[in-house]
Amino acid sequence: MGDSVRILVGTTTGNTQYVAEEAQFQLKEAGGAAEILPMDELDAGVFAGGGTFLVCVSTYGYGDVPANAKKLYESLVKDKPDLSTVRYGLISLGDSSHAQTFCFAGRRFDQILQKLGARRLGEVLNHDASSGVMPEEAASSWMQGWAPGALEVVAV
Ligand SMILES: Cc1cc2nc3c(=O)[nH]c(=O)nc-3n(C[C@H](O)[C@H](O)[C@H](O)COP(=O)(O)O)c2cc1C
Repeated sequence: MGDSVRILVGTTTGNTQYVAEEAQFQLKEAGGAAEILPMDELDAGVFAGGGTFLVCVSTYGYGDVPANAKKLYESLVKDKPDLSTVRYGLISLGDSSHAQTFCFAGRRFDQILQKLGARRLGEVLNHDASSGVMPEEAASSWMQGWAPGALEVVAV
């Protein structure tokens, strides 16, 4: 699937799934292809062969990745694959009422992906559940900036 954006979803209560669906919709509107993959059964192998990814993840516990994202995150940390052919965008969900650990799961993914050589496309969208803006609305606006650039990379 080298010509499609893969949207990886780490979630506990489903907000991030809505965000992923909005992102998929926007990518299709922009003329691209995108598939949504829940992180549940994934490990670092999903990045083998490179490509363009959109990582969508919320934060739980005390700055932790959601339970369904643990296997993927831990596999990246342990296996340390070379991700130099990976390009990714990042949508990180959190709540600023958790001031010490706001959006930390997204930050964890960003740090490990960069450490392994992956290159981020665009700025991270950090969504704050206390902002009064629905996460899928924030994602919709952000995607209008991100999608065209990501699809250009996919086309190369
Ligand atoms: C028990 C619990 C712990 C949380 N811990 C954090 C946290 O440490 N940092 C943060 O930014 N958000 C935290 N949040 C907020 C969630 O990340 C936020 O509500 C997000 O929109 C949930 O997305 P999801 O439905 O996709 O899991 C926590 C929420 C709950 C219920």
